Parts: sequence; structure tokens; C-alpha cells
Amino acid sequence: MTEWFERWFGEEYLALYPHRDEREAAAAVGLVESNLGGIEVKRALDLACGAGRHSRLLSERWWTAGFDLSAALLARAKAADPAGVYVRGDMRALPFVDQGFDLVVNLFTSFGYFDNDAQHLRVLAEVARVTRRGGKFVLDFLNSDHVRGTLVPGESSNIGGRAVEVRREISADDKFVVKTIASGGEGGAGDQTFVERVRLFDRMDLETMLEESGFGVEQVLGDYAGGAHSESSPRTIVFAIRE
Ligand SMILES: C[S@@+](CC[C@H](N)C(=O)[O-])C[C@H]1O[C@@H](n2cnc3c(N)ncnc32)[C@H](O)[C@@H]1O
Repeated sequence: MTEWFERWFGEEYLALYPHRDEREAAAAVGLVESNLGGIEVKRALDLACGAGRHSRLLSERWWTAGFDLSAALLARAKAADPAGVYVRGDMRALPFVDQGFDLVVNLFTSFGYFDNDAQHLRVLAEVARVTRRGGKFVLDFLNSDHVRGTLVPGESSNIGGRAVEVRREISADDKFVVKTIASGGEGGAGDQTFVERVRLFDRMDLETMLEESGFGVEQVLGDYAGGAHSESSPRTIVFAIRE
């Protein structure tokens, strides 16, 4: 069965979100760089790099590999950065050697996509395997309190002449935020519906899972400007060291 993230992060995602924010990417990478606590970084991994907006900036600082499941997004990354290293695969089985990276980043809520938490732990086990001891992992995730408190249930817009309807809800079991994106083609032709389903891990869940996976949590920030994490901060940005 095709999973939602295999359908959604393709051509349609590119068509509906053609200009993901480059300024935000620069802020995120700047935040990562200034909170590494002086470790030496030679090799970095942008895990779930999408169209490569962070990978390009990371590679100005360190040798960087971008990794993602989406062939369409990786093709976009490679077109923008022909010399860049981009690898396709599933984050549950990374095609990299043990301890091969000094720094792994997972940015802009590219985690929490699976139905079952054993799969999320599988991802963290893979990240732990490919991160050298003393290396860092930065997990930039949504803030579940903020999502619950600010959820906009419905929204209509027009993107490039296409009507787009977005619905958002918390799943009946209270574990996921579910976004349904319906985009209409001209005259109703080519209508398509996509689902985005993200596990509402809170800060403690993330810290516990990271600690169970071989990381020590060093710091948790709440936005890309380096603000404190709180119930109302937009992000949960966890800096962890591989023990
Ligand atoms: C919200 S996008 C963020 C992309 C990028 N980090 C950015 O900020 O532009 C999430 C990314 O996760 C990727 N992804 C989803 N499931 C994946 C999996 N199982 N293995 C690897 N990448 C995956 C998607 O293809 C998509 O590019």
C-alpha cells in the first residue's frame, strides 16, 4: 500500500508549494551552526532534505549529503545544485556506514510520519547508527501544544489558478494532526486529494525517544531565532549528542 508521504511529497507538493521559504532555511541552518557547542563537523547529513533548501546552505559549511524518499523533490534539489550529493531512500533504512556523519539534521517537521511508533524509533536507531559518537543530531519538529492551540480547521486559497481547500483536524485517538489538501484542476478536471498525517509527539516524547536511542538531549529551542521552547513557541528544536 502506498503511504501518504509517498503520494504527497511529489509533483503536486511542488506545484502547490513551489517556493518553500529560503529565508527560513537560512535561519534554521544558522541556528544549527551556532548551537553545535564547538564540535568539529566534516560530514553532515540532511535527513529528509526535500528540494534541498537546507542542504545547499549546509554544503557551504561542510561536506553534505541530502537524503530523501521523493524522486521529484530530489530532482529539484539536484537541478538547483548539480554538484550536490543527493541520495534517495527511506529514513528507516539509511544506506550509510556506521558513524559516518558528525552532524545529522532533520528539519521542518520531517519526522512522525508513520502509523506506529516502532517505526519512529527505527528512524532514530538509524540516525544513532550513522552519527559518530560525540556527533550531533538536530531534530526540528512541530510543537504539539502550539498545533493543538492554533489549529485552523479549514482554509480556501487559489494557487496558480487552482482552487485549494485545506482541512485540519486532530485524529480521534488524539495522536495525529491530519491535514487534507484538495486541489482542483480547471473546470473540476484533475481534482486530487492528499493527506498529511503527523504524529503529535510532545517535547517529553521526543526527549524520551532520543534518550532511548542513544542520544543525550542538550538543548531544546522554540523557534528559528533561538527563542526558548514553551507551550506557545512554534517549534520544538532538539539538539542532541550521540553518546
Ligand atoms: C515537510 S518536507 C520537508 C523537506 C525539507 N526538510 C524542507 O524543509 O524543505 C518532508 C520531507 O520528508 C520526506 N520523507 C517523507 N517520508 C520519508 C521517508 N520515509 N524517508 C525519507 N524521506 C521521507 C519527504 O519526501 C519530504 O521531502
